[in-house]
Amino acid sequence: MSTTYDAQSTAEAKEAEDGVTDQGFPVDEIDTSRPHPARMYDYFLGGWDNYEVDREAAQRVLDVAPDVVLGARANRAFLSRAVRHLVEGGIRQIIDIGTGIPTSPNTHEIAHSVSPDVRIAYIDNDPIVATHAGARLIGTGNTGFFLGDMRDPRTILEHPTISELIDFDEPVALLLVSVLHFVTDAEDPAGMLDTLREALPAGSYLVLSHATADFHTDVAPEVMEVYKKATASLTARSHADVLALFDGYDLIEPGLVQVPLWHPEGPELKPAELRKIGVYGGIGRKR
Ligand SMILES: C[S@@+](CC[C@H](N)C(=O)[O-])C[C@H]1O[C@@H](n2cnc3c(N)ncnc32)[C@H](O)[C@@H]1O
Repeated sequence: MSTTYDAQSTAEAKEAEDGVTDQGFPVDEIDTSRPHPARMYDYFLGGWDNYEVDREAAQRVLDVAPDVVLGARANRAFLSRAVRHLVEGGIRQIIDIGTGIPTSPNTHEIAHSVSPDVRIAYIDNDPIVATHAGARLIGTGNTGFFLGDMRDPRTILEHPTISELIDFDEPVALLLVSVLHFVTDAEDPAGMLDTLREALPAGSYLVLSHATADFHTDVAPEVMEVYKKATASLTARSHADVLALFDGYDLIEPGLVQVPLWHPEGPELKPAELRKIGVYGGIGRKR
């Protein structure tokens, strides 16, 4: 069933509007009893697709770590620059895991502004993303969305939408932008990355960004405490830990850096401003 989307509507209004998502997912299965990372991130970015429980949790984070808003915006800008860089370099297919609630410009809008023939498979495990995917992610051709979990990479790789959109004989850009910090060490992010990397041909790219507490050691425990009550906990990782996630890839210039430092555009940030950005990002090329 297709739905219309009013950019000003809240998630609650959307839920009242109809009973199922564009993907046929029953809206009443959306868990509104606990904060969801996707909806908290939407709140940090000034979006409307969140519930009271998300706003309260996000506000608790902002009370101790107001810099999170800057980090979220800087992460989004990194995503734009990274996608543009790769599409300008010839990449024509993208797998974007942990898509997030659509926020313009979305990955396909950035890619298609360079080349309209880029194919994009979007995957997220949060049903709220599915509620908006039809109107905002997959209305334009060359794109698909399905509900899938990073922690089950084989199921993602075997999904029919991937078979339709992705040719594993050609280089692929795999986007894991601001998602792996929702995977705990015990869940084995390195193992998930191995499975995904093995499916990609040489010359493919991993675009990865990740929250770190390296610049916010004082407030990090309180932030992580808030996420413990959410549907996914937050695991901030050090520079060395994030670097290790690029196993099997060669980092392209400038390596793994705080996201504003990755192919920066606009005025240079002062050191005091840069210290506020607790997000690392980089791009690796598969050997
Ligand atoms: C912080 S948002 C990032 C959105 C977008 N990639 C960006 O950087 O702007 C993280 C997204 O990852 C999704 N996510 C969290 N854990 C996931 C998992 N195990 N599998 C798939 N998606 C997941 C959340 O639902 C959320 O939409």
